[in-house]
Amino acid sequence: MAANSPDLMSTIVSLCKRRGFIFQSSEIYGGLNSCWDYGPLGVELKRNVKEAWWRSMVTNRRDIAGLDASILMHPKVWEASGHLSGFSDPMVDCKKCKSRFRADHLETLEKCPKCSGELTDIRKFNLMFKTFMGALEDQSATVYMRPETAQGIFVNFLNVQQASRLKPPFGIAQIGKSFRNEITPGNFIYRTREFEQMEMEFFVPPEEDEKWYEYWREKRLQWYKDYGIKSESLRLREHEKDELAHYAKACVDVEFLFPFGWSELEGIANRTDFDLKQHSEFSGKSLAYFDETSKKHYFPYVIEPAAGADRATLAFIVDAYSREGEGKEARTVMKFHPAIAPIKAAVLPLVKKDGMPEMAEKIYYDLLDNSIKSHFDIASSIGRRYARQDEAGTPYCITVDNQTLEDQTITVRERDSREQYRTSMDSIVEVIKTKMKDATR
Ligand code: GAP
Repeated sequence: MAANSPDLMSTIVSLCKRRGFIFQSSEIYGGLNSCWDYGPLGVELKRNVKEAWWRSMVTNRRDIAGLDASILMHPKVWEASGHLSGFSDPMVDCKKCKSRFRADHLETLEKCPKCSGELTDIRKFNLMFKTFMGALEDQSATVYMRPETAQGIFVNFLNVQQASRLKPPFGIAQIGKSFRNEITPGNFIYRTREFEQMEMEFFVPPEEDEKWYEYWREKRLQWYKDYGIKSESLRLREHEKDELAHYAKACVDVEFLFPFGWSELEGIANRTDFDLKQHSEFSGKSLAYFDETSKKHYFPYVIEPAAGADRATLAFIVDAYSREGEGKEARTVMKFHPAIAPIKAAVLPLVKKDGMPEMAEKIYYDLLDNSIKSHFDIASSIGRRYARQDEAGTPYCITVDNQTLEDQTITVRERDSREQYRTSMDSIVEVIKTKMKDATR
């Protein structure tokens, strides 16, 4: 199946449900449009994606600090950021079949693309979810579910800078939920109304903005490649001037070839000093940075790599999916990078007797005690068990067999090559740890 075939998407959606990656939210009630739940494999996968991002953006860097800001913020934040007045999409409805469309996604506004009915005039639709804080549902208590995590970073700019004593160029990173009342959600977890973002705001002296913009666009593209996504499924696309958000001087998308075509995975924007200046004006508290060398205050420019954890997870799933072989030899393999794979190893006793299950259990607990997320599988033939692990994307299968009883060696099977070799039972934790480390280099 071609990487951009629509059939691939439905195959992936059903595999995700069957194997426990992703379920429809509230399924027993008929589901809730655009809401999805991550099952046992999916939650591990998405956590690994977020951890890989956090490692590369925060843990392994001296110039970026982390933050976890609240979802609900002072309503003035959204006035200052421009989201109250400007964060809207143009919407039209069909008067006949009542379908709703984003006007900018239609080829013509003359007629409904579904039933050829007459369309309404374009209306602006604000994407922010509103709710009420406190017991009274009056105007003064209206708050918004954040539509981006970035604003929590901007309003905390000086708090973090002073607490961490970092100087521009430096960054603040955050992972968290965002909410947008999208007019046309869809394509599985690609565009949803509740999603998780992984955003980093990099504050730089204004004259260095272009240099850092170049730096982050290459760095972020490379991150997806480092975690195994094929180069030919990734590209950078620079925004045209008329596509730019109200705050941006420049923006480039990292695009991925999804089954529904090339689409945005992450945006890297030059947000200039727009946000820090706006919040200074609206709050009456200056967020200017005091430079000790020049003894002057200035507003740093911001380069923002803004990624989506769900969208990245979908890209890793699509990229990993592979159908190989013919007839009885055919198999589905999720070729996840070992650092991203939900389960790292599976321990499989060849038969349910002769002490093999007990030996296998010992290996299994050793792996768990060393924080290596593993499975123990004793049911059905060894071939079927390998097939189950291939579909889950488990990179290493460890088999306990007759020879193990004699010399305490086990078989390790590599998922992608299906190559098998023996090693001692005692060394397996170190073998898997070394393999994981080598793969992440
Ligand atoms: N702070 C800038 C910002 O929010 P964005 O391009 O609107 O920029 C950044 O969003 C990333 O967040 C996107 O590239 C995408 O990965 C993710 N994202 C945005 N809207 C989404 C949605 N409705 N569903 C899933 N992910 C979304």
